[in-house]
Amino acid sequence: MSTQIIRPARGLNGSLTLPGDKSISHRYAMLAGLAEGVTRLTNFSTGADPHSTLACIAALGAEVAHQPGGSIAITGVAGHFHPPTHDLDCGNSGSTMRMLAGLIASHPHTFVLTGDPSLSARPMERIRKPLAQMGAEIHLTGGDGAVGGHAPMTVVGHPLSAIDFTTPIPSAQVKTAVLFAGLQAQGITSLSESIRTRDHSEHALKAFGATLTRSGPAGDGSSKLSIVGGQRLHAIDAIVPGDLSSAAFFLAASLLFPDSHLVLDALGMNPTRAALLDVISALGGKIRMLNVEEHHGELVGTVQVNADPHARRLSQPFEISGALAAQLIDELPVLAAIAPSTRSGLRIRDAKELRVKESDRIDLVARNLRAMGAELTEFDDGLDIPGNQQLHGAAIDSGDDHRIAMAFSIAALRASGDTEIHGAEAASISFPEFFTHLDRLALR
Ligand code: S3P
Repeated sequence: MSTQIIRPARGLNGSLTLPGDKSISHRYAMLAGLAEGVTRLTNFSTGADPHSTLACIAALGAEVAHQPGGSIAITGVAGHFHPPTHDLDCGNSGSTMRMLAGLIASHPHTFVLTGDPSLSARPMERIRKPLAQMGAEIHLTGGDGAVGGHAPMTVVGHPLSAIDFTTPIPSAQVKTAVLFAGLQAQGITSLSESIRTRDHSEHALKAFGATLTRSGPAGDGSSKLSIVGGQRLHAIDAIVPGDLSSAAFFLAASLLFPDSHLVLDALGMNPTRAALLDVISALGGKIRMLNVEEHHGELVGTVQVNADPHARRLSQPFEISGALAAQLIDELPVLAAIAPSTRSGLRIRDAKELRVKESDRIDLVARNLRAMGAELTEFDDGLDIPGNQQLHGAAIDSGDDHRIAMAFSIAALRASGDTEIHGAEAASISFPEFFTHLDRLALR
């Protein structure tokens, strides 16, 4: 386990190009693996998670070649995955395990999906249930009583039939598992979600040539997706947009210093992810978006941000709840970590899903903030964190969770004294270059 010492900073300045978005990289890799032809992906995520996906699709018969210059060429199996000769190791990646289960469930082989200790503790019943309704045979480990089953997971492939499914929890991974299975099922699979989760799968499926329709949103905000089964996919050339969830650490850091200035190039700004930019503005960041373009349905552009010294102080803590909590789920750890250093503080509710991420992120955020001297209230589904608190350096436990390691490295920039991030290497799950960029951008 490695420890990083983070010294306080006096500012944050510079420009940054983020590695490819983790969510989009997973989806492009999976669909490229299934498609016919050679897909070329530039700016693929450098995180360990999407590389777990690449290793899985290679084990399923796709050819994965790393090109000079950093792009990746994937030759797909043209609709027919091969029987793997070993377990599909999903590493730390919930996205890999859940979305892959939907992608492979109709292929006539037996697949064993495994993960590291963190992934092996995460709930998998959420994808087993809809896939079983489609005719899939999925065996989970454990799962008695209140706690659902988990990995290792065995998928025994069978032909699937379409279903009409309503997602009980807002989860893009569950939605994707059903859409990927529906793509290869008999009939028209429909899926309704009451909170619109990230829609990268919808854009990726269309990019690879599938037809997909969306109706809604209805009066209650719900929308319905339909996908016809038996469609074939064709290879694409794509540049993966920069990862907004990785950028979130630096966007949050920019709020901590009155004269910070950051420029982030080629950043993904998909509207189902971009609520973060509104929150940064509400917390006192001044944001400009430039050169916005659309590639394969994804918005990409340059973001400039600086802390606005004239920003109004909110009369109450900023509240993230309801649909906003679901849309910001990956950014909540860093927003919570900087909350004591903001003027108004932060209140997070309806975010119980944080407890079943790579770690129990509510518990770890609360424990680490308290270790740095903050006062806060913990709820089953969130946190109440008053602003205007001075943090002090402390020993931080990352819990082997990448987003916790990075979130507290940002909080440490405004602490008095040095902070030790234990288990800092977890950052490489999504953003291996994080500490190098932090060192370069933080003014000391
Ligand atoms: C992801 C969806 C989210 C998110 C995860 C990536 C995706 O999970 O937390 O990091 O790529 O679809 P859920 O769908 O479980 O909310």
